[in-house]
Amino acid sequence: MEMLVRRGYLWQSFEIYGGMAGFIDYGPLGNGLRRNLEDLWRDFFVINERAVEIDTPTIGIEEVFIASGHATSFTDVAIECNSCGRIFRADHFIKEKLDIEVDPTIEAVKEVIREYELRCECEGEFKDPEHINLMFETKIGPGKGKKGYLRPETAQGIFIPFKRLSDYFRDKLPFGVTQIGRAYRNEISPRQGVIRLREFNQAELEYFVDPRNKTHPNFDDVADDFITLVDKFDREHRVTLREAVEKGIIAHQLLAYFVGKTRRFLLKAGLQDDKLRFRQHKDDERAHYAVDCWDAEALTSYGWVEIVGIADRSDYDLSRHTQFSGEDLSVFIPYKEPIKVKKRKVIPSMEKLGPVFKDKAKKIAEMLEKLEDAGDYVELEVDGEKVKVSSEYYEVKEVEEEVHGEKIIPHVIEPSFGLDRITYSILEHAYDKDVVDGEERRVLRLKRWMAPVQVAVLPLLSREEFEKVALEITDELKKAGIFTEYDDSGSIGRRYRRYDEIGTPFCVTIDHQTLEDGSVTIRDRDTTKQIRVKREDLIPTLKELLNSEKDIEEFGEIFRANSS
Ligand code: GLY
Repeated sequence: MEMLVRRGYLWQSFEIYGGMAGFIDYGPLGNGLRRNLEDLWRDFFVINERAVEIDTPTIGIEEVFIASGHATSFTDVAIECNSCGRIFRADHFIKEKLDIEVDPTIEAVKEVIREYELRCECEGEFKDPEHINLMFETKIGPGKGKKGYLRPETAQGIFIPFKRLSDYFRDKLPFGVTQIGRAYRNEISPRQGVIRLREFNQAELEYFVDPRNKTHPNFDDVADDFITLVDKFDREHRVTLREAVEKGIIAHQLLAYFVGKTRRFLLKAGLQDDKLRFRQHKDDERAHYAVDCWDAEALTSYGWVEIVGIADRSDYDLSRHTQFSGEDLSVFIPYKEPIKVKKRKVIPSMEKLGPVFKDKAKKIAEMLEKLEDAGDYVELEVDGEKVKVSSEYYEVKEVEEEVHGEKIIPHVIEPSFGLDRITYSILEHAYDKDVVDGEERRVLRLKRWMAPVQVAVLPLLSREEFEKVALEITDELKKAGIFTEYDDSGSIGRRYRRYDEIGTPFCVTIDHQTLEDGSVTIRDRDTTKQIRVKREDLIPTLKELLNSEKDIEEFGEIFRANSS
């Protein structure tokens, strides 16, 4: 963290006013890294899926979160000190003080407090635990306004316009809709720095499928990848994803596909495979909307940290929004061939209804036609009046009808990525120390395509003739779309160390020979080896290097194996 703050990756927000837990600023480097992470995510989960990206408000009206269940169920159990008034998240406080994993229920927390006579840090006694909602409440409009909430997940912004999205995809399942943006949770007592934020960045994919077909056409791409899984009974498995599905460890192919794709994405972003696992939520741990959930967890100095949740939300959200909004959020799935179905049909007799029921006869006939069957009589409510209609006014016939398809409410599989936690985990996994020229060196081994500063251009000496060429080259690299910094302050050794520490994969140095023949050197961060290339080869060489993990030796002869 010291390095991240000093070098401009992450800062405490509101620092000059004493800061506030749960908020961070991304400095120039942190912002660049997260932006690269988002671009990589788009490549995996938008461009290379049948998916689109949308952008919806970060404030939601109350109705949305009543329907979604967040207004009642999005809570943590909190304990408040009777003496100093401090409030803690119960399960975290108990873990910290007693090293016990407690179920996040009122009863379980009460029991632990009683059994261990747990007290506050001020020695005060705790009141009875209670549920606290994690959403930030707000008012929309002046005065009393309308109640709203800052969104606790981007997902709801995708469910609400579902009809329009389905129309965009010509009602053809499966399809995916993504959103990258801020979400907010008023965490009770966040003490884990970057890991538990009150305002954070999500990248979410809602993948809508026919519930009878939870498969993915590209499953074979990841099926043979080996993966570490911890199931809900805490059993560890090292298996391929194909085996995980065959053995029933992962419930269906679609969940397994997204577990595999998520792992590929995280590795490409720079996480280390041996510090990555997938853990299934226990039955009492799942969010209120999920029937199953696998988390990607990264091993960091905070222990195993959830960085992605891959949930099967079934038809929970679309059914609830159908129920609460009155809009039908189902999709019509046509059959390949129409099928014939025998049905009973109620056929009203207008001749008999008319004289008896007069101006109500037409409405009664329409209501009868809608019935699927009828016995000796039916009771209807017409214009607020109960009407009994006996079977002399209708006939029930068995008919054969052609049916062309059926309406279903799609299920949703949701890979949901916590971008801040992933960014932080990448930094921890990339941070390394080694020895160069007998001296310890701190180096951030970011993947080349993730580095916020990809190339540093360094004049060997601070003399005008070196600086002029270095500035020209900086300009050319920037125009070629390469994130480049020019730096002429301090000795060349110190400058190399500066860029090693922030993870810049390549330094281009302008030296005496540049002034003679135009050639420049490229120094590789990881090996510190240097090659010399012609000026006209510089941009294509760097572009190829930055998009691959190729050794610089493939692009020129090593002339300096150690260039600290
Ligand atoms: N949409 C899932 C989550 O926010 O955790």
